[in-house]
Amino acid sequence: MSIRAVVLFTFVSVGVTITQNEVCALDSGKSRDVTIKDVMVTAYKEKLAKKVMQGEATQDEKQRLLNLYEALAQSAPPRGSQVSWKRKTEALVNAAQAAVEGHENAPILLKRTMECGACHTSHK
Ligand code: HEC
Repeated sequence: MSIRAVVLFTFVSVGVTITQNEVCALDSGKSRDVTIKDVMVTAYKEKLAKKVMQGEATQDEKQRLLNLYEALAQSAPPRGSQVSWKRKTEALVNAAQAAVEGHENAPILLKRTMECGACHTSHK
């Protein structure tokens, strides 16, 4: 192998490792690498939250929403107080948790978490 090939090979393997880590971070939702924007896009733009609210989501999708909301709760908003953020995001976590556990009140709890403006006004 020439030096150039070795360098290229190393570069490619590092690239692959990083990509895999990012995918895992998004999947588990546990990592701090998941940004608020990631959560907004997956939960709202891609309508994962709505699907769960309407009872059309699989168990995996419900769990994914819960992981995303947990990551949201662990993050810091660009604006507004941390106390208010904790209160709002905990409601999201509880609602997703209720969906994962199959509670009857999950749709009502989730509906309340879809009030985008209430959170955006204070934190976006
Ligand atoms: C718990 C609080 C909260 C709730 C509820 C919430 N958002 Fe957000 N959203 C935020 C914050 C904070 C930001 C700003 C993130 C940043 O700038 O880093 C944001 C940003 C966004 C963005 C911009 C993302 C980007 O790529 O820049 C979109 C789109 C969005 N929210 C959609 C929604 C929709 C749709 C709903 C309701 C169905 C919603 N959000 C509910 C907190 C919330």
